[in-house]
Amino acid sequence: MAFRKVAQRGEVAEGSGRIIEVAPGRFIALFNVGGNFYALDNECPHEGGPLGEGDVDRGCVTCPWHGFRFDLSNGACLNAPRLKVASFAVRLEGEDVLVDA
Ligand code: FES
Repeated sequence: MAFRKVAQRGEVAEGSGRIIEVAPGRFIALFNVGGNFYALDNECPHEGGPLGEGDVDRGCVTCPWHGFRFDLSNGACLNAPRLKVASFAVRLEGEDVLVDA
């Protein structure tokens, strides 16, 4: 496990996501749902849409490109079971959000 700080809690509005570069050219999507944080790979496994820009609802994010929905807790796709996006463990330390990505 290699958790590292990727954001502060206040940087991701409740009920939304944000795209964060965790390494050069490597992006994750960080989501805040009622103060619980979830991290997925930002790249949609369908055709590469930016999941961090998708709408968040009922524990899922909807890809802004073609509307596939992904479970924030494990990256499973609700529309196409063969599709899955990587999900990463999140830890909160005070105001800091740490991700094992
Ligand atoms: S690229 Fe995400 S649903 Fe098509």
